[in-house]
Amino acid sequence: MRKILLALGALALVGCTSAQPLAIDLTPSAARGLKVSQQSGCASCHGSDFAGGTGPTWVGIIGQSVAFKGGTSGVVDRDYLIEAIKYPDKVQRVGYPVMMPYNNLDDAEISDIVDYIEALSQ
Ligand code: HEC
Repeated sequence: MRKILLALGALALVGCTSAQPLAIDLTPSAARGLKVSQQSGCASCHGSDFAGGTGPTWVGIIGQSVAFKGGTSGVVDRDYLIEAIKYPDKVQRVGYPVMMPYNNLDDAEISDIVDYIEALSQ
């Protein structure tokens, strides 16, 4: 039992220190997307490694089914992500009481960010 507890403790420690974006190979556009996300404060809600926090995780999100307030649902794809970033108030997911704030990102920056989010699903 003691050994199991120690192992769990070690896992928790690893979890705490891995507050860096996942080490994955990024295309130039995805790398730009990561940078813009970090500079635009997205990580404060989506997590320092984008594994979620106040906002949903970006890791493995492509293809996930999501439920919206009002009873509709959808599947996450590139268009959905672009829409969610452009018009944060249009996407109101069940389970997230905080609304995502608007941002000043242009289409190219949003495209780069979505490239990065797609990379987190590979
Ligand atoms: C104040 C917290 C907050 C910040 C800052 C924030 N978001 Fe969000 N984001 C959310 C929440 C909460 C949701 C869930 C949707 C909802 O109900 O509004 C969300 C949803 C999303 C989604 C859709 C994902 C899904 O599962 O529905 C994307 C993509 C996204 N955010 C990208 C961004 C980007 C890019 C930035 C930075 C420019 C950003 N967010 C900054 C809170 C935040």
